[in-house]
Amino acid sequence: MKIQLAGKLEYCFQWTEFAAKDEFMERRRRYVAGALGGPPPANIDFEMPTPLPNKRVMGNWTLGDALGAGGHGRVFFASDPSGNVAAIKVVERTSRNCHGVDKEIQTLQEVTNFAQRSDDGERVLRMAEVIYSNGEEFSSKTAFDNVAIVLKPMTPQTFGDLVGTRSKGGSNGMTIEAAAAFRAALLGVKVMHDGRWLHRDLKPTNIGLIGKPLRSVLLDVGTSRHIQAGGSLRPEPGTVGTVGYLAPELELEDYDHSIDIWSMGIILFELTYNYHPWKYAINPWRDGKTNEALRPSFQKSYQNAIDKMVRDYRNARVSPAKGYIHLGGLFAEMVRYRWAANNHAQRPDIDEVLQHPAWGPLLLESPQVKRRRLEYDLEDGEV
Ligand SMILES: Nc1ncnc2c1ncn2[C@@H]1O[C@H](COP(=O)(O)OP(=O)(O)O)[C@@H](O)[C@H]1O
Ligand SMILES: [Mg+2]
Repeated sequence: MKIQLAGKLEYCFQWTEFAAKDEFMERRRRYVAGALGGPPPANIDFEMPTPLPNKRVMGNWTLGDALGAGGHGRVFFASDPSGNVAAIKVVERTSRNCHGVDKEIQTLQEVTNFAQRSDDGERVLRMAEVIYSNGEEFSSKTAFDNVAIVLKPMTPQTFGDLVGTRSKGGSNGMTIEAAAAFRAALLGVKVMHDGRWLHRDLKPTNIGLIGKPLRSVLLDVGTSRHIQAGGSLRPEPGTVGTVGYLAPELELEDYDHSIDIWSMGIILFELTYNYHPWKYAINPWRDGKTNEALRPSFQKSYQNAIDKMVRDYRNARVSPAKGYIHLGGLFAEMVRYRWAANNHAQRPDIDEVLQHPAWGPLLLESPQVKRRRLEYDLEDGEV
């Protein structure tokens, strides 16, 4: 770093190896002691903050800027000497959370194995390696250790950055750019569901965006679960997902892949209108008096959201706005649930979602997905 004073005097501050040597420390100690006129140098307990190089290294990787922070770790941009880039999630393992961390890593490994076999389009995040600072087994002697989880691809942005002016068309729908990215994310969901994996924590900040045209990558796959054909999972309230994106049945009943469809429905709403259709600090659909007390208010917001979506969808179908696609008819189907007053039919599966006629021109861009027959369309009076 250079500092110039009045354009004439220039100080140059540099980190050198010498600064870490005993000789330097000894000379510094003497200098400070002399300057202070105090006790003999050996008794001074003085340590200057070391000008650390602005780099943190883990294994082969040099960490850069923070990309995001989640529940229990921070994620950094990282590069290696060959110019490869990755995202590195640094998680602090303690005796309290070590089982959870080890389980997340195990799941990431299983999803990675699955993705290597079945995900040609790189739509699902993979784990490249894990770097343990104190060995793979957690030792309670050390109280805590850092684990670096190397993830690929590194996505410079997420749907969190897309929700807003870049996506929002309000009553016009969402921008084509957003609709294409949303569809690409659904194709990632299809890869997982076809392999009988449930993501379980889909939300804007857990879907990465990379490249041009934008490609979507499902992130945060460490809480995914695999289920058998026709199988389901037991509810474990408070252990998975994010309030605001939890399907109503998730914390109350056995559930399956369709919880991911619900979460993607909420994201569809946010991409369209740039706000969440209902916001609660706790899940109205969990056992408990305080939770249950929120249900009437939820049902009201829910109905408003459906009405608005369906109304705008119908108008947009009649007179579409150039550059926008309204997916309101699809939203209404994606957020069907058992206890809804009048939207309680079965939620569509991922193929039905991808074949919905609301996609319009975007349907043609994925030849592998057959066009859904039009009698399922909202215009026939469903909802
Ligand atoms: N592969 C990646 N590339 C770029 N950013 C990432 C990547 N993985 C995670 N992030 C960023 O870090 C944040 C937290 O990571 P995530 O895996 O979701 O952790 P948590 O389980 O704590 O939510 C994400 O919301 C995202 O912004
Ligand atoms: Mg996350």
